Amino acid sequence: MNDGNEAIGVIGVGWVGLVSAACFAETGYEVVAMDIDEAKIAALRRGEVTIHEPGIEDMLQRNAERLTFTTDIADVLERARLLFCCVDTPPTYSGDADLSRVQAVVRELREDGEHALVMKSTVPAGTGAAIRREMPSLPYVSCPEFLKEGSAVNDFLHPDRVVIGASADDAWAADAVEDLYRPLGGEIVRTDVASSEMIKLASNAFLATKISFINEIANVSEEVGADVTEVARGMGLDKRIGTSFLHAGLGFGGSCFPKDVNALKMLAGNTGYHFQLLTSVIEVNELQKRRVMKKLERHLGSLAGRRVVLLGLAFKPNTDDMREASSLVLAARLQGEGATVTAHDPVAEPRARELLRDVEFAASVEEALEGADAVILVTEWPQFAELDWAALAGRMATPLIVDGRNFLDPDAMRAAGFTYEGIGRTGV
Ligand code: UDX
Repeated sequence: MNDGNEAIGVIGVGWVGLVSAACFAETGYEVVAMDIDEAKIAALRRGEVTIHEPGIEDMLQRNAERLTFTTDIADVLERARLLFCCVDTPPTYSGDADLSRVQAVVRELREDGEHALVMKSTVPAGTGAAIRREMPSLPYVSCPEFLKEGSAVNDFLHPDRVVIGASADDAWAADAVEDLYRPLGGEIVRTDVASSEMIKLASNAFLATKISFINEIANVSEEVGADVTEVARGMGLDKRIGTSFLHAGLGFGGSCFPKDVNALKMLAGNTGYHFQLLTSVIEVNELQKRRVMKKLERHLGSLAGRRVVLLGLAFKPNTDDMREASSLVLAARLQGEGATVTAHDPVAEPRARELLRDVEFAASVEEALEGADAVILVTEWPQFAELDWAALAGRMATPLIVDGRNFLDPDAMRAAGFTYEGIGRTGV
C-alpha cells in the first residue's frame, strides 16, 4: 500500500457508495471507488452522474481530481486502508437480506493486517460476527448509513450521529473511521458491532412504526371527524414524541424502509422470536394505499371506465427512485377496478416506464388532467404547490382530488373548485 497517498476505498458505487465517495472527496480525501459494473464506472469516468441526488453532480465535478473510479479491487487495496463496503443487500424470496454481494467483496480481501472492512451496507445483526468467524484477522467496523434520498449529501455532511461499532481488537480501525467523521459534527456513538448493526435496523423500523402509527390515527380521525395534521402537530410538540415522521399519507416506500422492516422481522423470526409489532406496521402500510380506492368510489361510484391521474410517481420528492413506490400499487389497483391511469412525474418517468404497464404518461400536469375524472397526489413534489389549481380544475371532467400526502391546503383547493379528500382529514 502506498502510504504517501492514502485514499479511502469505496466498494460498490450505487447510491450510498457514490454519495459517500463524493462527500469524502468534498471533505478533502482522496477516494478510490470500485464497482464491478463496467458501464457504470465508464459513465462516472466520463463525468456522468449515475443517480438522481441534489448536489451530487456539482460535488463530483468539483472533486474530480480526488476521485478515482475503477473496476479493479486491486486499485482500491493498493491505495486504501479503510474499505467502505457499500454494495446493496436486496431482499431474497425469504425476506432476508441477500448478502451475496457483501460475501463477494469479503472473498476479495486478505487478512494482511493492512486493511479494515467498514460495513456501510445494511446487513442483519450478526453479519459482522459471521464475517469475523470466516476471517478472524480482518479488522471489521460497522458504520451504518442514515442518509435519506433527496437530502443525502446534506445528511452525510451534517449527520445527527455517526455510529461506529467495532471490537476492542479493531480499535485502530474504528479510530480511523471516527477521524473521518468527527469534523462533520454530530454525536459519535462508539459501540460493539452487533449493537451498531441493530441501531441501524431499529432506527428504520422505529421510523416506519411512527408512520404506520400516524396512518392508523389518520384512519380513525376520519371516522371521528378529527384532522390528523392537527393531531400530529399537537402530539409532536411533546418533545418525547417529536414532530418528524408523523405525516400521514399513502405509507412509506423506497429502497430502505420496506426492505429493512421486513428484514428485521425475518431476522427476529429466524431466532424464533415473533416481532408482532412490525408485522402490523407492514400490514398497515400495505392497506393504507388501497384505502384510496374507497375514497374515489365514494364520489365516483364504480371506477370502471374512469380516467384517474397519478400526480407524482417516485416514492418521495427529489428522487427518481421508484422502488416500493405507492404509485405502483395504486396504478395496479386502479386498473384492477377497470379505470385507466394517466401519470405525470417531473423526473421519475423513465424509471416508471420500466415498471408500469398500460399507463399513459403525460409530459405536463395540464396534459395529464385534461378530461380526467380524478387525480391522486402521490408524491409531494414542491412544484405541485405552485400550480394554478383553479385552471386545472376547469380542465377536468370531475375536479376530484385525493391528496395522498396532505400536501395541499384543503380550503384553497375547495375554493379552486375541487372536491378535496386528504388522508385523515375528512372532517376539515
Ligand atoms: C430512509 C431513512 O430515513 C434513512 O435514514 C435510511 O438510511 C434509508 O431509508 P429514505 O428511504 O430515503 O430514507 O426516505 P425517507 O425520507 O425516510 O422516507 C421514507 C418513506 O416514508 C417515503 O415513502 C415517505 O413518503 C414516507 N414518509 C416519511 C411518510 O409517509 N411519512 C412521514 O412522516 C415520513
